[in-house]
Amino acid sequence: MNIRTRNMLKAAKYLENSACTDRKWRPGFHLSPMTGWMNDPNGLCQFNGEYHIFFQYSPFDTKPGTNYWGHYLTKDLIHYDYLPPALCCDIREDCHGVYSGSAVAYKGRMHLFYTGNVKQTGEYDFINAGREHNTIHISSEDGVNFGQKEILMRNSDYPKDMSCHIRDPKVWRENGLWQMALGARTKSGEGKILIYTSENMTDWTHTGTVSSEENYGYMWECPDVFTLNGTRFITFSPQGIEASGELYNNVYQSGYCLLDDISGEVKITGFTELDRGFDFYAPQTFEDESGRRILIGWLGMPDIDGIYENPTHEYGWMHMLTIPRELYAKNGKLCQKPVSELKALRKSEIRADCGGEYVSDSAKGIFEAEIKVKYPEKPLELTVKNDMKIEFDGKMLSLSFGSSGMGRTKRSVKMSRLEDIRIFCDRSSVEIFANRGEEVFSSRFYPGDNECGFAAKGECSIVIYPLDSFEITDKFSLGGQ
Ligand code: FRU
Repeated sequence: MNIRTRNMLKAAKYLENSACTDRKWRPGFHLSPMTGWMNDPNGLCQFNGEYHIFFQYSPFDTKPGTNYWGHYLTKDLIHYDYLPPALCCDIREDCHGVYSGSAVAYKGRMHLFYTGNVKQTGEYDFINAGREHNTIHISSEDGVNFGQKEILMRNSDYPKDMSCHIRDPKVWRENGLWQMALGARTKSGEGKILIYTSENMTDWTHTGTVSSEENYGYMWECPDVFTLNGTRFITFSPQGIEASGELYNNVYQSGYCLLDDISGEVKITGFTELDRGFDFYAPQTFEDESGRRILIGWLGMPDIDGIYENPTHEYGWMHMLTIPRELYAKNGKLCQKPVSELKALRKSEIRADCGGEYVSDSAKGIFEAEIKVKYPEKPLELTVKNDMKIEFDGKMLSLSFGSSGMGRTKRSVKMSRLEDIRIFCDRSSVEIFANRGEEVFSSRFYPGDNECGFAAKGECSIVIYPLDSFEITDKFSLGGQ
């Protein structure tokens, strides 16, 4: 470990030790940063039976800063170990941030691929000049201690019509080769995804470019490519798509298209948002050892200043990750269901039948609710914690907030039948899965401490499960470092 790494880890540990201890708004069953700032999930994988969840982590500030890869480890997605940051910005090629990337487990080693961010000093636009995005590889035998960083590609290696913004490598194996997808912005301001292939993880050749004839924005971040039930999907987080009715209302989007091919010039169309809520960005997926394709997203959104707020900066931390969701494909549509492991958090259950109107105080603390609708074409209205509303009118499903949204107003999706809803309500976030995950809304919200109202209008059956919290053990000690 070089002296810079050691010093950066020490700095992180000292900041964590002096973090605010007030637990207000802190999630019970979501991963959040020990202190400071969290954004994208990174390097998701199951390695020797254990799930590794890395994330963009800046312990220095409640704003995006010099990012490390923070590290959670779990065997069952309920009990977590918090480990020392796995990657710090400790070489010239990543000195301004160890940016997002992915993992593969291969022949007993964990391989990580990420972007080393460098911002040069000077008068640049930092789009076409003044920035380096290096693609870097590092590997580990135990998933905790990593070896030497290997620079795979620099800006001069990418196609000539690209701006400096080429990042977030996602690596997977297909056709007997390693494949890498990189998010890209062209010099003319068009979002694309570059595909590279390699036989040995070190030498990479540009073999494909994914783009669209539709206007899907100027930059595509965090690409991911995978096949589910024989259908290949590409997910990415485009910046610069204009709002259109109830679509694309967030600052940036995250969604997917079908992907027929991965070599040559590939055109995609039919971009569909993965989530309809206010706070969801930069998701990543991985296949676990049982063959499940699991997605975790950032339950947050960049560049929202002046639009809506997250008051947790007063307590010295910002953002969290979504719960893990198992993906499945239904008629070409990506659907998401919370992983079944989360059922182990249920403490008890409160059952009710709503024949028209139901009002109770059963939404105490953190909970999950399952609603089965009797007449799927008929209207339904749910009010949670006396402020958050989920409304279905036969044409649209909407999520809206009053004061607890802190500036978040209303988001909707077209829907003609509502059959069921699952709500995962944490202290300052909610994830809503409709029709077995065909549509999902993820959002932060900030209800009062004692708000516990749960009301329904319509005909449905309701089960509310008060939930336990994750158990998180802090295993980041400075020890001999
Ligand atoms: C997405 C993103 C990525 C980048 C990372 C930096 O939120 O902008 O493109 O690698 O965050 O933290």
